Amino acid sequence: TWSAVPAGPPDPILGVTEAFKADKDPRKINLGVGAYRDDNGKPYVLGSVKKAEAFLESTNPDKEYLPITGLPEFTKAAAKLAYGADSTPLTTNSVAVTQSISGTGALRIGGAFLSRFYPHSKTIYLPNPSWGNHTPIFRDSGLEVKTYRYFDKKTVGLDFAGLKEDLKSMPVGSIVLLHACAHNPTGVDPTPEQWTEISDLIQEKQLFPFFDMAYQGFASGNTTRDAFAVRHFVSSGQQIALSQSFAKNMGLYGERVGAFSLVTADPEEKARVESQLKIVVRPMYSNPPLHGARIASTILTKEELYKEWEGEVKLMADRIISMRDRLYDNLVSLGTPGEWGHIKSQIGMFSFTGLTQPQTKALAEKAHIYLTADGRISMAGLNGNNIDYFSESVSKVVKG
Ligand code: PLP
Ligand code: LMR
Repeated sequence: TWSAVPAGPPDPILGVTEAFKADKDPRKINLGVGAYRDDNGKPYVLGSVKKAEAFLESTNPDKEYLPITGLPEFTKAAAKLAYGADSTPLTTNSVAVTQSISGTGALRIGGAFLSRFYPHSKTIYLPNPSWGNHTPIFRDSGLEVKTYRYFDKKTVGLDFAGLKEDLKSMPVGSIVLLHACAHNPTGVDPTPEQWTEISDLIQEKQLFPFFDMAYQGFASGNTTRDAFAVRHFVSSGQQIALSQSFAKNMGLYGERVGAFSLVTADPEEKARVESQLKIVVRPMYSNPPLHGARIASTILTKEELYKEWEGEVKLMADRIISMRDRLYDNLVSLGTPGEWGHIKSQIGMFSFTGLTQPQTKALAEKAHIYLTADGRISMAGLNGNNIDYFSESVSKVVKG
């Protein structure tokens, strides 16, 4: 029956983990997937998460189905975290929101909803480059995927002129995907001033902004600061779409906690949109998982846990920044050819190192160090025990 099914390629990101697992060398390092590790290279379960779980256990919770759009306390708190409690769409009850299977699920629900109901276009523009899963997610949602200029290889920074030109030449009404903060894979974000210009341009051209916020808190260590772009667009009157993930900022990767929301005109429109979000979700997976949403809503609604969580987000972000500093210092003191300043200026979980495909291949084969073929490294995979070995290995490979 399946004789004509061709073998597919391994996933460009998760496939790296498979290669890492198969390597038996004790020095091996996985810098592929973006998952936080502590300074011993171990997965990190946040203290606020453990406390929320202990609290939940004490309430003897049931295991009933959630409503199609998820746990109401969670979706409310998630929207508040993104938009801000005082934002007009929230105070006027105009945000349609559904819980989702983490950020990926939120993007998929959004893609499916736009594909079915967005009246002005079926084309979504992604930054070049973007997270590898964006293209298949939106293509499988029934949208056509195109790209706009984002990263400038020469400056290892934002191609702001190219980005603006591309926004200007998009057909009116096109959908534009924006990484809200901590751009994956480049670690390069627009400045607040640049965001303001981007927002004005998008508004002028009547483009539709779809924000992917998978790293709120991871860019600056502060969730409010990282929500700048989303809140700026909304306060300028734009009706955005928003995907949120709690995988990274709460370390809830496998619990699959996320939300998709749309800013609408008023409560009546919101109710119509939400009724259709239910119709999108129900045949996909019926209703979302319970446990992670309970954890997130407990943290977001209990003042003490919220404070503890804010501290832990900052701790994760700060450890990553300290690894950037050490990596930069090491590469420079080893006399590694090239300019490495971008390692320190890039933000969020990743560094887009500029290592070439042959160099990444050599790192895997000679040094048991695994990263994605585009030269991206997950900074969180580095720690006090492996940073020197990593720096020396990179330096050797670059020297050739
Ligand atoms: N969007 C971006 C840019 C990401 O890097 C990720 C990965 O974490 C996601 C969305 C969604 O991930 P998840 O489905 O694990 O929340
Ligand atoms: C990554 O880019 O490594 C993360 O977003 C995890 C994933 O699902 O790809």
